[in-house]
Amino acid sequence: MLRAMRILTGLQPSGKLHVGNYFGAMQPAVRLQDEGEAFYFIADYHAMTSSQDPAALRENVRELAIDFLACGLDPARAVFFRQSAVPEVNELAWILSTVCPMSLLAKCHSYKDKIAQGIAPNHGLFAYPVLMAADILLYDSNQVPVGKDQKQHLEVTRDLAVKLNETFGEGTVILPDPIIREDTAVVVGLDGRKMSKSYHNTLPIFGEEKPLKKLIMKITTDSTPVEDPKPTENSTILALYKLFASEADYQSMVADHEKGGCGYGDFKKRLAEAYWDFFAPMRERRAEILVDPGYVDRVLADGAARAREESAKVLQRVRRAVGLV
Ligand code: ADP
Ligand code: TRP
Repeated sequence: MLRAMRILTGLQPSGKLHVGNYFGAMQPAVRLQDEGEAFYFIADYHAMTSSQDPAALRENVRELAIDFLACGLDPARAVFFRQSAVPEVNELAWILSTVCPMSLLAKCHSYKDKIAQGIAPNHGLFAYPVLMAADILLYDSNQVPVGKDQKQHLEVTRDLAVKLNETFGEGTVILPDPIIREDTAVVVGLDGRKMSKSYHNTLPIFGEEKPLKKLIMKITTDSTPVEDPKPTENSTILALYKLFASEADYQSMVADHEKGGCGYGDFKKRLAEAYWDFFAPMRERRAEILVDPGYVDRVLADGAARAREESAKVLQRVRRAVGLV
């Protein structure tokens, strides 16, 4: 019997989730649960390549798990697990590394960018794409939804899959297809640049009402007087409002920009309300999850068991193909 399309993706646990992560990664992943058999994991091994803080890693993994569940990941449908709960991924990474040319890794933008940012060029950072390929191939994944920045890593994955099959026989691993979210608009941050942790311009999804709404009041605007019409192009307030408000409310804010008479303070208040209301169901779900401290552990343990069932089959096939058994 043909099995369902397997959709796999990983998210790095690297701090508080922001609105850009939500629209760029979580919401698409939650929607894809309807399209096939979803395998979603928290890439904790990968996170170790850029930060070595054990307490922060533990905390970030837990927070990401809670937030992802609050945002709609349904453990009854998706297999949700921690990457390191299936350490066998390292064995496949090793096998892949034996067919991986150094030159393939040396040209990866993400590696070069991280070095340029001052992150130590350790072997983990260099070998990052090989582990990522192992993540994908270990579960016979068919589709891998990722942001544009991961496109090259998916190309490396396919190259390695082809090499492994050429060396050890067709069918050793399955070739995955990337789903690159080219169309997801870049969410702007509070200063008008791309919202990103690295720019310290983020609006978190979860947190206390007052400080979060205060962040919105800090959005950079020009100095058009209250009574004058305001520019609608390149407006950070409007760009964010569009994500949270109904079409009618959005159009009404555009009209208020065009006719003048409303100040930026007023627009920001409306934005803060819409933002707060948008995430209300997720906040409620999050509060429910927190009532039962064992819930997240149970979900991740169950996910790991289901993931291991799959990985065992694939790894056995690969081990046989390469002559380890
Ligand atoms: P950051 O830039 O804050 O470090 P990450 O690189 O950890 O964010 O991004 C995790 C996921 O969220 C990726 O899939 C990325 O494409 C998505 N993402 C991050 N920022 C944005 C944004 N401003 N707009 C749209 N998607 C985003
Ligand atoms: N490198 C990805 C990122 O930073 C996270 C990731 C790790 C991943 N392994 C993966 C994504 C496998 C998709 C498939 O966003």
